[in-house]
Amino acid sequence: MNADRPANYGESSHGLRGDYRRMRPDYTVEQDYGAYTAAQQDRWHRLYRRQIELVPGRACSEYEAALRSLDYAAGIPRFGVVNRQLGAATGWRLVAVPGLVPDLVFFEHLANRRFPVTVWIREESEFDYIVEPDLFHDFFGHVPMLFDPVFADYMQAYGKGGLKAERLGSLKWLARLYWYTVEFGLIRTPGDVRCYGAGILSSPAEIDYAVRSPKPRRVAFDLKRVMRSLYRIDAFQETYFVIESFDQLFQATRPDFAPLYRELATLPELPANAVLPEDHLVS
Ligand code: PHE
Ligand code: CO
Repeated sequence: MNADRPANYGESSHGLRGDYRRMRPDYTVEQDYGAYTAAQQDRWHRLYRRQIELVPGRACSEYEAALRSLDYAAGIPRFGVVNRQLGAATGWRLVAVPGLVPDLVFFEHLANRRFPVTVWIREESEFDYIVEPDLFHDFFGHVPMLFDPVFADYMQAYGKGGLKAERLGSLKWLARLYWYTVEFGLIRTPGDVRCYGAGILSSPAEIDYAVRSPKPRRVAFDLKRVMRSLYRIDAFQETYFVIESFDQLFQATRPDFAPLYRELATLPELPANAVLPEDHLVS
């Protein structure tokens, strides 16, 4: 960012939220750390303190371990600091972006072990709930999972799979896999079911609902079932898919998806609250 023209991490006047004025062709920007206001730093502290209380017993152990190693209590994270830790752990690197980026740009970053993180933080009115990914969602929800070697490899494979799905016109099916794993995934552990999905981990209410409430259905992960399932973006999930391990997820998604996409084109979609006789319920 130019020093003479400070970054704008507040309201924007155009449709896409965020400051897209001075980005590189790959949509990356520099984090202008000094542009965060005291109110924004304070908001980070309050978001962090509320959410960290909810992690024990609800998030998977891989997530918890990584979160503990991150100095998020100090304030809005600096990309450079987190990148030194993350690079040493799994070779992933965070890149700052103005907000949502086009699908192909996103996949290209993932395929090269770069995770795009939004530079702006939500407004006070969005403290409890936000529709778009902001800096808190990305740092708190996604970044700790990138410290797990198997999950890190899965994310890269997903990026490569995204570039391929785009060529095959099959993105809608692959997007559901992202939704039900990376954003809203649950994992079975010896004692109970825990979350690893970033959309759950960064949500003050859904993190408890996802693993404790009797309301949602928790269905054993099945790749084809996941890809057929529509999802809701405006409410808590009605169905979660539960993996046994990150290795199971990685292995299940290893095969060439091209034949699967051809089969999916012949099958009806399933509503978000679908009940299938073959569903295997967990817990
Ligand atoms: N195996 C998938 C394909 O052929 C690639 C992929 C891997 C997609 C992991 C998502 C997650 O397209
Ligand atoms: Co996300």
